[in-house]
Amino acid sequence: MTTTSKIFVAGATGLLGGRIVAALLDQGAAVRALVRPGTEGDKKAALTALEARGLELVEGDLSDPVEKLAAAVGDATTVISAVQGGPDLIVDGQVNLVRAAERAGARRFVPSDFAVDITKLDDDDNFMIGWRRQAAAAYGDTSLEVLSVLNGAFYEVMVGFMGIVDWEAGTVSHWGDADQPLDLTSITDTAAFTAAVALDPEAKGTQRFAGEVLSMRQFHQTLERATGRTLELKNLGTAEELRAEITRRAAASQNPFDYVGLQYQWCMVTGKAKFDTLDNAKYPQVKPVSLEEFVREGHV
Ligand SMILES: NC(=O)c1ccc[n+]([C@@H]2O[C@H](COP(=O)([O-])OP(=O)(O)OC[C@H]3O[C@@H](n4cnc5c(N)ncnc54)[C@H](OP(=O)(O)O)[C@@H]3O)[C@@H](O)[C@H]2O)c1
Repeated sequence: MTTTSKIFVAGATGLLGGRIVAALLDQGAAVRALVRPGTEGDKKAALTALEARGLELVEGDLSDPVEKLAAAVGDATTVISAVQGGPDLIVDGQVNLVRAAERAGARRFVPSDFAVDITKLDDDDNFMIGWRRQAAAAYGDTSLEVLSVLNGAFYEVMVGFMGIVDWEAGTVSHWGDADQPLDLTSITDTAAFTAAVALDPEAKGTQRFAGEVLSMRQFHQTLERATGRTLELKNLGTAEELRAEITRRAAASQNPFDYVGLQYQWCMVTGKAKFDTLDNAKYPQVKPVSLEEFVREGHV
């Protein structure tokens, strides 16, 4: 793909999408970003600042009629989705985007997957990953080349809102085998790999990347080294007990977001969603940060 090929990004006001746009511009790509009508404030300002670097902004929503969304895609050859939401967006919205991309004459689609190995899971292992699998089945007949980018878990999630690390109490909690390897990547490096895939004319199918592959024991040791703190590594139970806890919470709650974090952990600690191979070596220009560097840089 030449640098004159245009890349369309949906979800550009998001955490990952914004960094994908920046990574694409860094690599000299022509980029058009979809912005929802009414977007104001910091979100709009961040993208407006990138207009000076050639970013085109176009208004729209993944629920727009196909013709309207196709006009937004315009002459872009690759469409990247970095949206986040419920099944109306992840399934229906992304299918709509694929149909719009087909109509506009685009050639490639990167769905909003960005997770552990979703190809190895069953739909009910994790309801959010289930939506992505449903979307893939629904646009399975597309003429577009689908390039799925998988990154394991974000470092930011592992040290932040997943609830694994309690920085105040000084604990790192985990389920299952402390020596099970896990695929982990920073958001910025996931964006850089995504841009590299989108700009690679040879890229095909699912690409798997990890900034580091670490067990929970190594994760804990890395955090201790990077912070100089002593942290307690706490085992919360076996992987079977984790599955039982998910079932218990699912029965007790109307809100699946109460237990989706546990579902992600189950997919990882069982090894079920572990990458069998990594594609990092295809893109040596992307030099992912280690977890230790990431924490030392103050991202906690
Ligand atoms: N592997 C991991 O550990 C991990 C962790 C977190 C996320 N992820 C994945 O990364 C991807 C991006 O997540 P994120 O955290 O960056 O999401 P985010 O910050 O919540 O951003 C979501 C984006 O989707 C856009 N959006 C929502 N509804 C839309 C609609 N109807 N039409 C068009 N755009 C719409 C939002 O636009 P507005 O700004 O207008 O709302 C925003 O740009 C997702 O696939 C997510 O699952 C992976």
